[in-house]
Amino acid sequence: MSDHLVVVNFKTYQTAHGASAEDLARAMESIETDARMIAAVSAFDLSAVVAAAPNLEVWCQHLDPVGFGSNTGWLHPSTAIERGASGTLINHAEHKVSLEHVAMLLEQVPEDFEVCACAADVEEARALAALEPGFVAVEPPELIGGDVSVTSADPEIVSGTAQAVKDVSGSVGILCGAGVKTGADVAKANDLGASGVLLASGVTKSDDPVASLKDLVSLL
Ligand code: G3P
Repeated sequence: MSDHLVVVNFKTYQTAHGASAEDLARAMESIETDARMIAAVSAFDLSAVVAAAPNLEVWCQHLDPVGFGSNTGWLHPSTAIERGASGTLINHAEHKVSLEHVAMLLEQVPEDFEVCACAADVEEARALAALEPGFVAVEPPELIGGDVSVTSADPEIVSGTAQAVKDVSGSVGILCGAGVKTGADVAKANDLGASGVLLASGVTKSDDPVASLKDLVSLL
């Protein structure tokens, strides 16, 4: 397995929820690649996706740093782990939290549980990197869901984040996302200093998700 990550965020796309989430996870699992293919799924779909694609790495889209007890509606890390999650996104542009939330979550989860903290810009990436999550993913909010990859629209934010994160900690991996759709975008991300990508619509809105997934890893 290479250390390149391709994280597909299922969000709440209709094509990536419920039974469709299971189908998409199976499609991801079927791709022959050395890259680390990861599905970030709804908490509701976690167990079913893990059962449908047992060899696929499956993450949550969000977790709350709560313990057992009186926490109605919050997403408890231990339950996610028991249901097969091996990591989570946190502070996604569509689900922002405080730095303290991220810090508390990192304190709570086991060492081998991957946490990918999302950042809107270089400054936020630097602040999050100081907390030493496994990964920081930079995603300019205005490019999310668009047709132009961050690697073309704003390559400096990727290289700037890579440099800023490395300056803060040598152990934090760097991802980038927003508009990423092709193998060329993934290759460019690597050239700019990222070790992987975080994407959604390039797969969830594709007419042929398998072909899109194959293309994404084609140049790794
Ligand atoms: O988490 C990935 C996401 O925010 C990027 O979305 O649709 O631009 O690939 P998209």
